[in-house]
Amino acid sequence: MQQAEKLSKLNIFLENVKVKDKNFHLRLGANFPIISDLYHKLYSNSPYKEEAFESLLASLVKNFEERSALQKKRDMTRVSSPNWYSSEKIVGMMLYVDLFNIDFNGLKEKIPYLLDLGINTVHLMPFLDVPEFENDGGYAVRNYREVNPKFGTMEEFEALVKEFQKNDLNLVMDFVLNHCADQHEWAVEGRKGHPKYKDFFYFFPDRNLPNEYEKTMLDIFPDTAPGNFTYLPENNQWVMTLFYGYQWDLNYKNPMVLVEMIDTMLFWSNKGIDIFRFDAVAYMWKEIGKFNQNLPEVHSLLQLFKLCGQIVAPGVAYIAEAIVAPEEIIKYFGEDLAQGDECDIAYNANFMALSWEALATKSTNLLKKSMKAVPTKPRNTTWINYARCHDDIGLGFDDKLVSEMGLSSLQHRLYILKHYCDGFNGSFGLGQRFMIEHETGNARISGSMSSLCGFERAVKENNEKEIQLAIKRINLQHAIILSLGGLPMIYSGDEVALPNNYEYLNDETKKYDNRWLHRSKMDWNLVENKDVPESPQGQVYRKLKKMIAIRKQTNAFADSNDLRYVDYENSHLLIFKKTDNKGESVYVIANFSEYDTFFERSIFGDLNPNKFYDLLTETNIDIQERNFISAYDVLWLK
Ligand code: GLC
Repeated sequence: MQQAEKLSKLNIFLENVKVKDKNFHLRLGANFPIISDLYHKLYSNSPYKEEAFESLLASLVKNFEERSALQKKRDMTRVSSPNWYSSEKIVGMMLYVDLFNIDFNGLKEKIPYLLDLGINTVHLMPFLDVPEFENDGGYAVRNYREVNPKFGTMEEFEALVKEFQKNDLNLVMDFVLNHCADQHEWAVEGRKGHPKYKDFFYFFPDRNLPNEYEKTMLDIFPDTAPGNFTYLPENNQWVMTLFYGYQWDLNYKNPMVLVEMIDTMLFWSNKGIDIFRFDAVAYMWKEIGKFNQNLPEVHSLLQLFKLCGQIVAPGVAYIAEAIVAPEEIIKYFGEDLAQGDECDIAYNANFMALSWEALATKSTNLLKKSMKAVPTKPRNTTWINYARCHDDIGLGFDDKLVSEMGLSSLQHRLYILKHYCDGFNGSFGLGQRFMIEHETGNARISGSMSSLCGFERAVKENNEKEIQLAIKRINLQHAIILSLGGLPMIYSGDEVALPNNYEYLNDETKKYDNRWLHRSKMDWNLVENKDVPESPQGQVYRKLKKMIAIRKQTNAFADSNDLRYVDYENSHLLIFKKTDNKGESVYVIANFSEYDTFFERSIFGDLNPNKFYDLLTETNIDIQERNFISAYDVLWLK
């Protein structure tokens, strides 16, 4: 279609929109030319392009009309404070509905628990309808419009949302958009050759094209689901499945898929979702001969999701789950003219992995070097800072930076693996290797925060000194994610040092995936210890609760792209400075080793301070030429 023809079609459409809301029209007018442009660039050759585009427009109008007055009011509040998701006030927790407390009602009952800790943002792991056994922890959706009946009914979900809103809790939905379950109706019909749904997936009659694709594709689960295609014997064809064989990649080259998924997202926006976590986004577009991560089309797709979302539900924010190299992650915030049009939040995966590297090596050198190499992100975007999540820890360090430090990147990774998985050299961790690459021995790491920090081993060995060190490591990890600036995301259970869970080995449907090692059922008996100050649970919970409260009072801990790392030769220490918009700074000094050590006054440069107030111990500290900091201690100096 010619540009002029496109514009006039667009104008006709805009004029005919019956919605009266002035703001809706303003947003439509502002976003629509970009949407149209992005869309037509992606789909100029698609036979479905006209039909799908019309459906997309209709979906925006329909979903806006269906959006409740309450949601629209919430949108306006959000729009007037665009940094709500990067403020010091925001603190998140991620949890599985069933593992946390059985179902939606159970979760609702535990709202006071979340509030007590200071949580105001909850990332629910996938809660939609999935096949009973093969579902990758919810990441294989069978029906995008139904909740998992094990968790309750849609009415119960809605009641939960209502209660969340009453308590100012933001709800994050895991939106699994790269693939769906092989039992989804689209997949069931598509494999039979349904005229519409056969193009919702990548089907192939033989291995010719799959073999070509494979040449540049990453193998995500090489141990348990090798290859990126699954053979369907009943139809004698192959289908693209990057993750497990039962997770079928949706074909975003077909605009009907995009429109269905945008419509689905808007449906959930209207149910009251505050933040969408876009799952596995890096893989959304695939091309023969090109590496199958981070293709430019992925960014166009995400911009389409966000721009459409903003028209209907402008108060909603978007997280990119892209666990890729930092210079690629940063692009998910939108580059150049697209800044602000893509995701608002991304995972600080590199920092997370390097924090474990630093604990293993007792050196923060690689962490500091890597963080300094991260390009500045756009304004009004932020990181999820986290120490553990439901996935493995991938040691995705930048090989170039590792070798600049005189280390072999493979040997360095193997060392970290031995440290966390083999108890090597007196190490404290009780983790396990996930997805071993047999040629190199390289792998990722599974294990709970508490077990990786040495708590489980120390308890088994009844070693009080080690128990105390493990608690300090957990508290250090929490102190860091709370002070880096961004959205700190606590992994449910870590607040009471929940150890690894080996029960998954008795479950046929889980035992092949050791990420279940750190997906423990919440132990509410253990939680009772949180009120016993000297118990390990008490020491972790109470410290975390206190740190959260302090964070919320400390404007410097908001993210305004102000994080500065301080150069310092003592490699045990990580030192950074956060500054608020009035110019007040907080220095965070963390000792990543079990040694007591020192820092010098000179780290503060021209400030040359005599005194600081430590927010954590609530005491004044006289700053000397050399200042003592004990094993795994963290100071928040104001
Ligand atoms: C994301 C999820 C992970 C899941 C994968 C496939 O990476 O975090 O748990 O296995 O996507 O959906």
